[in-house]
Amino acid sequence: MRVSEGSRRIHERALRRKGNEVSMKTRIVGTGSCLPETVVTNDDLSKIMDTSDEWISSRTGIKARHLAKEETTASMSIKAAKRAIENAGVAVEEIDLIILGTVSADYVTPSCACEVQAAIGAVNAVAFDINAACSGFMFALNISNAYIQAGLCKTALILGAETLSKVVDWGDRSTCVLFGDGAGAAVVRGDEKYGLLAFDQGSDGTKAEVLACPGRTNNNPLIQTDQRLKFVHMDGQEVYKFAVTTVPASLQKTIQAAGLTPEEIDYFALHQANIRILQSVSKRLHIPEDKFPVSLDHCGNISAASVPILLDEMNRRGLLKTGMKVALSGFGGGLTWASAVIEW
Ligand code: ACO
Repeated sequence: MRVSEGSRRIHERALRRKGNEVSMKTRIVGTGSCLPETVVTNDDLSKIMDTSDEWISSRTGIKARHLAKEETTASMSIKAAKRAIENAGVAVEEIDLIILGTVSADYVTPSCACEVQAAIGAVNAVAFDINAACSGFMFALNISNAYIQAGLCKTALILGAETLSKVVDWGDRSTCVLFGDGAGAAVVRGDEKYGLLAFDQGSDGTKAEVLACPGRTNNNPLIQTDQRLKFVHMDGQEVYKFAVTTVPASLQKTIQAAGLTPEEIDYFALHQANIRILQSVSKRLHIPEDKFPVSLDHCGNISAASVPILLDEMNRRGLLKTGMKVALSGFGGGLTWASAVIEW
């Protein structure tokens, strides 16, 4: 087999690192986020469609969301990235990996991660996007951990970013009221003391149809395309059942693998889909709701961006202290899910 010079160098670097192994944990050392300027409340929506603040907030906990006008997935990602890098206090040249989770990148190619790389000047980074829907940031965290553990990277920038307002069906009131736009980012690097303690990750492609967005406009004259198929459609009750069974089980498994009990976790920073899902998980784990911070009230559901935006809000409010145990979980389209326990 022919091995490229680049692959050979990466492989040798990994082997050298294995030889003089230092046990490193993957640690989040900085966070950042960006929300679009325009805030749209439930009352604003009730003026343009048949809905009400009462219907939306009582079923979901969502009161408002930020929607992009001028902003793009890349422009929000770039702002979030700069804020995370500043918060981490690292030089941009130190970043050697950028992974961005999204289902709403501005282009098919180039990737949004490459747009971020160019804009921030991360000249030494390998950059790529991943699609794991609402689990995208968590999958990016796990991949960056694998790179760090293999010695392939030292400092990674991981992001979740979405402009869901361009992929939801504004004619379907049962879905469009749920989503928002925004970007969140974190800088991660190896640390001898603190960081990732355990991880769980899964996918179930057989349930793809319960939450899907089939595609983009096709102007192939040989076929007829149903234009509605361009947009997100969801079986809300099936998604709910999936979330309230899979998420507590995944969290329990991860917390146990970290050698902890749910009571020892200081915060549960979960994907912000719906307040009822958060309440159900808290009940199933017998953990008080005040350990489940919430951003969905003012952000709505921002898919891959919701966990890093929540983390950044917690970080900037001073909630996260060194050594605290934080459980994270993302879940959504695919279906996909991922949980982690970190020592902050
Ligand atoms: N305003 C007013 N009425 C509405 C609206 C709206 N925005 N949307 C739907 N309705 C009506 C429906 O037409 C229906 O009326 P009908 O009974 O006369 O036919 C009625 O409200 C009930 O509709 P359902 O879809 O059955 O509403 P449900 O009670 O299931 O609530 C919800 C919908 C909130 C989405 C719920 O299914 C849920 O919590 N799902 C969890 C999944 C989730 O949050 N997904 C988000 C994205 S996925 C993710 O991030 C993992």
